[in-house]
Amino acid sequence: SNNIVVAIDGYSSCGKSTMAKALAKALHFIYVDSGAMYRAVALYFLRNNVDLKNADQVKEALKNVHLNFHSRDYQTHITLNDEEVSEEIRQMHVSDMVSSVAALHDVRVEMVKQQQRMGRSKNVVMDGRDIGTVVFPHAQVKIFMTADPKIRAERRYKELAPKNPEITLEEVFESLAHRDYQDTTRAESPLTRADDAIILDNTDLTPEEQLEFAISKVKPFL
Ligand code: C5P
Repeated sequence: SNNIVVAIDGYSSCGKSTMAKALAKALHFIYVDSGAMYRAVALYFLRNNVDLKNADQVKEALKNVHLNFHSRDYQTHITLNDEEVSEEIRQMHVSDMVSSVAALHDVRVEMVKQQQRMGRSKNVVMDGRDIGTVVFPHAQVKIFMTADPKIRAERRYKELAPKNPEITLEEVFESLAHRDYQDTTRAESPLTRADDAIILDNTDLTPEEQLEFAISKVKPFL
């Protein structure tokens, strides 16, 4: 097939989804937030007390997880067994355990399969940790995003603070650092830059500048 895939990978909270959404909107591509899928699985496991060390339990639980995206307005609307969970999956209790769930072999196999299906015949922008390395190694455009860890923590803190007055910037910083550590050091599909990915450090870039950069990379394939 000759559909275009844009793979956007990088660390936690460095603006991947903001840029991916804007890009998808500008190009009329489908946007897929792969992290939301791992978060929804983590939420299900949390609610059902799935023992992550028990592979049989994990396999059984996965059979009962049905995810669907409704990307009406290029925002992430995801349902877990028909329940809208888009907000809950952003909460700290999910963020703090999602990387342990995402490190599990069976979880990754299932998610990657679903992600590949979504990008098989349509133009997509997908963001995550292993999109350019594992999910779509032949993606036409691969962007690896980074930003100063302090800036990333501040951005995430600003998102969380209005609804979580008890949260501190320090906690958010620690939580991000821990997640990045887990994501980059796990055995299976660790977060790493694909050899052919373009690096985008957005510490000092506006959303508009980032979008312009991304569009210029996709243009040759349109
Ligand atoms: O992108 P987001 O921060 O929502 O992702 C949540 C977590 O899901 C990541 O910290 C990572 O552990 C996992 N993830 C992954 N592979 C992806 C996307 C997310 O392992 N492609």
